[in-house]
Amino acid sequence: MEKYVISGGKPLKGDVTISGAKNAAVAILPATLLAGGRYVIENIPNIRDVTISLKILRELGASVRMLDRSTVQIDSTHIHDSFVSYELARQMRASYYFLGALLGRFGRASVSMPGGCDLGARPIDQHIKGLEALGAEISIDHGVVNAGCTQMVGSHIYFDGVSVGATINLMLAAVKSKGLTILENVAKEPHVVDLANFLNSMGADIRGAGTDVIKIHGVDLLHATSYSIIPDQIEAGTYMIAAAATCGDVTIRNVIPKHLESITQKLIKAGAQVDEYDDAVHVTRTGPVNKINVKTLPHPGFPTDMQPQMTVLLTLAEGTSIVTEGIWDNRFRYVDELCRMGANIQVDGTVAVVEGVQELKAAPVRATDLRAGAALLIAALVAEGTSEIEDIYHLERGYEDICGKMRLLGASIKKVVTADNELAKAL
Ligand code: EPU
Repeated sequence: MEKYVISGGKPLKGDVTISGAKNAAVAILPATLLAGGRYVIENIPNIRDVTISLKILRELGASVRMLDRSTVQIDSTHIHDSFVSYELARQMRASYYFLGALLGRFGRASVSMPGGCDLGARPIDQHIKGLEALGAEISIDHGVVNAGCTQMVGSHIYFDGVSVGATINLMLAAVKSKGLTILENVAKEPHVVDLANFLNSMGADIRGAGTDVIKIHGVDLLHATSYSIIPDQIEAGTYMIAAAATCGDVTIRNVIPKHLESITQKLIKAGAQVDEYDDAVHVTRTGPVNKINVKTLPHPGFPTDMQPQMTVLLTLAEGTSIVTEGIWDNRFRYVDELCRMGANIQVDGTVAVVEGVQELKAAPVRATDLRAGAALLIAALVAEGTSEIEDIYHLERGYEDICGKMRLLGASIKKVVTADNELAKAL
């Protein structure tokens, strides 16, 4: 087992460069199945969810070649399969995007039920409702979602709730459907817009991405393309909060400041100073942390994927803050770990009451999911003494080289293999 060992108590200082967006990459990679040909995708983040997506593409018959550290070439001409195995699908949530993409290419798909972070119930009823409206027949047998259709036909779909995944899956399935598809009450996240831009660069006709209604005129033919993925809003936000929490002075480069607006506004209210440039933000904090209330909402609201990191900052506030989780049923599982580090937080369902404390204390903790891991890492950077974070594979699913990037900012962090695991390997 691997863990991070962090000696905290030092302000982060310097520059950090943000990688491509995980949640855009995991949608764009399956989209390369929609038309055969050779794609070049730039600004690909070097993270485990991307590695798994590329493995799935290979398993389906695509040829995949890294041209450099962040550029991948994919040739999807010779896809010979429409089945995504449990072994790969269970390792990440976004594996269900292969359903929409394979349906679009072949009119059939079988994808094992997806895995991903445990954040409470993660139904896929809206994906199924939408795909059925396009004419697909769907069945779930032994943990595999099977979908088939001779000709997908455009439809008017009103989602019961805003879902990033269902919006993306329906865009993938509808681009080659016959006629017009109207998707209403859709997600407006930057990665939804990035996927629409990617598909349009393949010859699709998608309008309205980034608003509540997306209109898709189906086309018969799509073609391979070259594309550069947007920067990761959540990775950027994580470094912004890490800078504020450690009283640091950090310039975060390769970002789209507009995508960070909800985070920036909350950070300023909490007492940080944030300066925006064309493609960078600069974050410092010299005064106290102010108590604030935060509620997570679909974009452009405050992102749920920044909730754990923001809660860590608020543990340092003067007074009591209220954090309300508006997307997931169970996204406070990390709070017990944070309390081991001296935080004072009471959770009641989807509301956390965060009583500010004088300081956080180093402790051994366990990452319960991806963003929980990021939050604990920030807490460990703040706390005097040496903390250890276990189950860091969660973090490595979504943050490129977080150890290296944090070290460049002056953090004392190293990744070690635990002795008992070496023993287990030896046995
Ligand atoms: N929902 C349904 N039915 C559905 C789909 C969703 O009821 O068919 C509900 C969910 O239970 C949840 C809400 O709708 O309460 C929102 O879920 P959504 O579908 O938007 O989430 P997702 O697509 O599974 C993506 C991100 C998550 C992020 C959420 C919300 C990817 C791969 N994952 O998940 O990212 O938290 O949107 O913004 O894009 C992360 O990166 O750490 C992460 C968990």
